[in-house]
Amino acid sequence: MTGLFITLEGPEGAGKSTNRDYLAERLRAHGIDVLMTREPGGTPLAERIRELLLAPSDEPMAVDTELLLMFAARAQHLAQVIRPALAEGRVVLCDRFTDATYAYQGGGRGVPEDRIAILERFVQGDVRPDLCLIFDLPVEVGLARASARGRLDRFEREGRAFFDAVRQAYLRRAAERPEGYCVVDASLPLIEVQASLDALLPRILERVRG
Ligand code: TMP
Repeated sequence: MTGLFITLEGPEGAGKSTNRDYLAERLRAHGIDVLMTREPGGTPLAERIRELLLAPSDEPMAVDTELLLMFAARAQHLAQVIRPALAEGRVVLCDRFTDATYAYQGGGRGVPEDRIAILERFVQGDVRPDLCLIFDLPVEVGLARASARGRLDRFEREGRAFFDAVRQAYLRRAAERPEGYCVVDASLPLIEVQASLDALLPRILERVRG
């Protein structure tokens, strides 16, 4: 048995978690066994790595340290959660995965794509998302929503140019491989965003049921 691996991506404030919960509820209503998780994190150890990654600190984090910590957390998450769940035939809904690395460390921090690709192969073997949903919205809208939530983490403190580059990297990946991606307009009212997820449901159900 192999399950289905769906990732949700987008900038801060795009409503990924709300939409992940909605999609999980819709799939469960169809009798599908869904596991929800997130990156960086998803296991106690990977959540500790997440804390290191997100906490603002006086010591600047080197770009390669950030990149390797993302993949260290991912290795743990894959071993403990993602691979076992897929092997049991479950649907895994993961809030962020390696597309975020290409967008944030690649687009945002300027790490060359081929370096990320080496780590992707090393850590993941052949595990790739079956479908990546990108919740896209204008940078200023996302930043305003994120800052309204309170204390900003290390990424949320980045400036407009960083998030522009992140957004462009996501959209470029979706444009390069449209069959594996779905770009959702997250600036629309929630009810319309959810309608786009409803429209995707038959495609997901078809793939789950083989
Ligand atoms: P979250 O706020 O969506 O939970 O994600 C935490 C932050 O981590 C977010 O700012 C994006 C960042 N991130 C990366 O920079 N690279 C990655 O590979 C992942 C998974 C997240």
